[in-house]
Amino acid sequence: MKVLILGSGGREHALAWAVKRSARVTDVVCAPGNGGIARMARCLPVDLKSLDAMVRLAEEERPELTIVGPELPLSLGVVDALKQRGLRVFGPTRAAAMLESSKGFAKGFLQRHQIPTGNYAVCANAHEAAKALELFHPPIVVKADGLAAGKGVLICESRHTALEAAQGLFSGKLLGETERQVVIEEFLEGDELSFLCLTDGKHVAPLAPAQDHKRIGEGDTGPNTGGMGVYSTDEMLDEGMKEWILRHIAEPTVRGMAGEGTPFVGVLYCGLMMTAKGPQVLEFNARFGDPETQAILLRLESGLVEALEACVDGRLAEAELRWAPGAAACVVASSRGYPGSYKTGFPITGLELAAKIPGVQVFHAGSALKDGQVVTSGGRVLGVTAAAASLQEALDRAYQALEEIHFEGMYYRRDIGHRALRRKA
Ligand code: AMP
Ligand code: GLY
Repeated sequence: MKVLILGSGGREHALAWAVKRSARVTDVVCAPGNGGIARMARCLPVDLKSLDAMVRLAEEERPELTIVGPELPLSLGVVDALKQRGLRVFGPTRAAAMLESSKGFAKGFLQRHQIPTGNYAVCANAHEAAKALELFHPPIVVKADGLAAGKGVLICESRHTALEAAQGLFSGKLLGETERQVVIEEFLEGDELSFLCLTDGKHVAPLAPAQDHKRIGEGDTGPNTGGMGVYSTDEMLDEGMKEWILRHIAEPTVRGMAGEGTPFVGVLYCGLMMTAKGPQVLEFNARFGDPETQAILLRLESGLVEALEACVDGRLAEAELRWAPGAAACVVASSRGYPGSYKTGFPITGLELAAKIPGVQVFHAGSALKDGQVVTSGGRVLGVTAAAASLQEALDRAYQALEEIHFEGMYYRRDIGHRALRRKA
């Protein structure tokens, strides 16, 4: 069986690694892939911003299954286009992916279906924003409506700065071309939880829970990034809470999308804030999280391909996901300067030694192969991931592996998992 994975990050490396474990899979193609993926699968160039290019590639390769990693191809409608051509593809249609691609749509949907989320207002211009802001108390969250790769969220300490933030968004480049909207939200307080589920449009199967670390600096300081590390343990979510989230958030979302004529098939990633009043939806993503996937898939014992096929074929109810007990953690090694500007092209050494540490997988995010040598090519370079019986051991293994790895300007947070460890202490 041939599987095509669209994407080029750590998530796609982890997907390729998990897919390859299935005995039925004989050929893994990743487009465009990266330096780490190229060492374990066939990588082909493709422009993920071009629907035509992705369709052409899929028609040439004719994979039995295509897995779409990032949000952009989903929002362009790559799933619709491949399905029209008779190809099997895992991911939501363009209409269903609006749960991620439009925050205004997601908020309206949550309200229509009485799914817990913070108060909000969608504004089409600065005048509307000024009016809406009268109803909010600081801190106030101001967001660009469309996909903004984590850069479109501003937390403001006063109405005045919130209005300035909204004005900045209206006059800047982060808003989409067609629907230029800004979403104003109530600030929610608590621990964040990434609750990802597989769904076939009807049934929902939760993945192992995870917690991301979005800020660049230790102690959760500094600017937001795509994610600097993540951990997953069973203890972070007890059975009762898991059931509650399924019943009040994940299942009503899947039911609601089907009821509105846009069934959601793929990964429904519920970004939750565990507030004093209970879990509230911060945002949805319509895909596997990055770097959540790296840690989650290290804990998956049953076959990934089989589970994804069950989603595509509408028989998830029959599928069984089995998870390794214990924990997994992923620590991201980034280029100095990220999430601002940074240099690339530096050789990465020590990857073989790191991979020898038990339970460790080094997933590449921003790397390239140049004359046989792996070099840095992005802001987030590696996701050093480890599984073990406990979170402390998983973290120890990941950090031990990082000791072996070197590239110029390598930076990583030394406090991944700190909240969970502190709670235990
Ligand atoms: P988003 O792109 O919507 O996931 O937002 C990125 C990050 O901003 C989230 O992971 C939160 O840390 C923070 N954030 C977003 N919305 C809120 C909110 N309403 N209250 C508090 N923090 C938020
Ligand atoms: N880790 C957050 C995301 O994938 O959006």
